[in-house]
Amino acid sequence: MSITFDSEKRLFSISTENSSYIMGIAADEILTHIYYGAKVEDSPNVREIYSDYIFKSMSPSYNKENPYISTAGIYQEYPTFGSADYRVPALKAEYEDGTNVTRLVYDSYRIYGGKPALEGLPAVYTHSDEEAETLEITLKDKYSQMRVILLYSVIKGFDAVIRSARIVNGGKEKIKLRSALSASMDFYNAGFEITYLSGSWARERHIKKAAVAPGNFTVESRRGASSHVLNPFVAVSEVGADEKHGEVYGYSLVYSGSFIAGTESDEESVRAYIGINPFNFCWTLEAGDSFQTPETVLVYSANGFGEMSRTYHRLYRTRLCRGKYRDTSRPVLVNNWEATYFDFNEEKILEIAKKAAECGIELMVLDDGWFGKRDNDKCSLGDWFVNYDKLPCGIDGLAEKVNALGLKFGLWFEPEMVSPDSELYRKHPDWCLHQKDRLRSESRNQLILDLSRKDVCDYIVKAVSDVLENANIAYVKWDYNRNMSEVGSALLDPERQGETAHRYMLGLYSVLERITSAFPDILFESCSGGGGRFDPGMMYYMPQAWTSDDTDAVERLYIQYGTSLAYASSMMGAHVSAVPNHQVGRVTPLEMRGLTAMCGRFGYELDLSKLTDEETETVKEQIKLYHKYENTVHKGDMYRLLSPFECDAAAVEYVSEDRKEVLFFYFNIKGTPAIPDRKVRLDGLDAGAYYRNTGNGEVYSGAALMNMGLLMPRNSDNFSMLTVFEKL
Ligand code: DGJ
Repeated sequence: MSITFDSEKRLFSISTENSSYIMGIAADEILTHIYYGAKVEDSPNVREIYSDYIFKSMSPSYNKENPYISTAGIYQEYPTFGSADYRVPALKAEYEDGTNVTRLVYDSYRIYGGKPALEGLPAVYTHSDEEAETLEITLKDKYSQMRVILLYSVIKGFDAVIRSARIVNGGKEKIKLRSALSASMDFYNAGFEITYLSGSWARERHIKKAAVAPGNFTVESRRGASSHVLNPFVAVSEVGADEKHGEVYGYSLVYSGSFIAGTESDEESVRAYIGINPFNFCWTLEAGDSFQTPETVLVYSANGFGEMSRTYHRLYRTRLCRGKYRDTSRPVLVNNWEATYFDFNEEKILEIAKKAAECGIELMVLDDGWFGKRDNDKCSLGDWFVNYDKLPCGIDGLAEKVNALGLKFGLWFEPEMVSPDSELYRKHPDWCLHQKDRLRSESRNQLILDLSRKDVCDYIVKAVSDVLENANIAYVKWDYNRNMSEVGSALLDPERQGETAHRYMLGLYSVLERITSAFPDILFESCSGGGGRFDPGMMYYMPQAWTSDDTDAVERLYIQYGTSLAYASSMMGAHVSAVPNHQVGRVTPLEMRGLTAMCGRFGYELDLSKLTDEETETVKEQIKLYHKYENTVHKGDMYRLLSPFECDAAAVEYVSEDRKEVLFFYFNIKGTPAIPDRKVRLDGLDAGAYYRNTGNGEVYSGAALMNMGLLMPRNSDNFSMLTVFEKL
């Protein structure tokens, strides 16, 4: 890891272990993007290989000496609106005099040890300044005196470049930011594809791929949350790249609100960009004010998608997730949602808890419906006081009874919401996001509290803390069940209404920081109607998220496989639920449901009291098995071997940190009769070492397992199998 500036050649070089990121200051003082890819350190001439620009016909130029250099054709690092760059800008500003041209030229740079925290925003962190280096490049618009500070950090041991931008109004007049992305860069167009994660409620993060063809391709959320529909992650890759081969560039945004990521290309160049979505965004900077964008984590892999994902997994697991549970084992839980929905009382919860204790489950989670008058989803969000009709001993009393059975106790909240039918709403009708005198559209009979307001944030912190302080609560599920509409705040000036959605995120992050740091022993799991806010921003505060409301084992194979492109198994809440499955009606074996959920943070979500004796024994075995191997699943390296998006099966492998334990999970989804077995090659092994199958004692060389592979059955539906190898 190193960052250097060659003052003669005016080149910035950022190196990670295996990658180089090179920028130059061009003759007209524009910061250009020269190269990002496999390491090219110490080449005397890199600038001479790629030109700073390409000629673009009909494109005006500022350059009197060489009129062929137009911003339309310069390979830029942080492009701005105005003049002749017709592509998507990273920055668009409007000035008080009605002008909107910004011309950023190089001003200065600074290189220092460590990585700065981003005020009010989640960010990758380090434990010491020796772990990281940061480059700050300041660009300046001479007309407005606006400065843009581009931040680049690298962390020892990770092939990642972490970028963000800080925009400072150094002039005397107001500036309106219409767009301020986190990162943008122009590549030489060698032919690329874009891979992204798309879906819906209960079908999150399916893998999609498209050609980066001339034109614009965007992956975005305009919903005020990162969303079920598209995730704030894209990978731009060499055409034909696969799990093990080809160059892949990952772009992941550490943000939970509306985002945009995309590519704009023509025959010669590709611009890739990511940041807050300019849709419905307008931020006013008074003189002296600054705006910090969220950060984006760029990961380069020369060896396909697998290596890119493993870098994200390790980085996010160890340098984004925080708190006591980052590294320790987390309890196996049972959640009552699919067991009872709203129809429960203390007796029923204790019945499930008793059976859970017998099975070896460690945590009983009480989901929605314990507060206010909430017997359905029509009321009471915001009224965070217990419903004594259902729970006569209160939450504290229930927690005590659950504890007495030997289990920890956890609780569901949806603190960002308010039901119109609630005491809170009747008292504070202006506390929700809304626009004056306009209809307030509802989803699931609820409105969103206006977290851009300090008083609302304080109320949430107090309401949640009061409950957490008064009962022995070990786990919180933090839900969020609708997206924004009529986005506006009663407290913001008319000209600042376009700031509401981002101010909401800043408010949310402050609330999460306050609550999670006040209760460091509580394990927090985020949720948004399943995986509607499964993003790095939330992971900074809560080390795991409920991956999807779809608990069907087959559906989960797709969802978890797609999610793994950017997120570690340690972040994915995964539960065994009842059959026929409540979302799709499918019946899958308990073994398969167990093995699928073991590839995430393991738990149960069904009425345990209805288990047969045989099922009870299976559940007991599953919990032991999970604990036996959880370290390898959650801290090891993951290899995706078979994609359910490409065949009727899925296979993943986890290799422990010390490389001694190998877990091979195989799932055959659709059985086909009279068909030869399927060859599955393992990955990430030491070719010359020997590995013993702990089930049958057979010994294979790493080379045999990786080249000859294993022959796996494919003749029955929903067949699942875990094979464990130990390195000899
Ligand atoms: C949506 C979540 O994803 C579910 O798991 C459950 O908690 C419900 N909300 C409760 O309303």
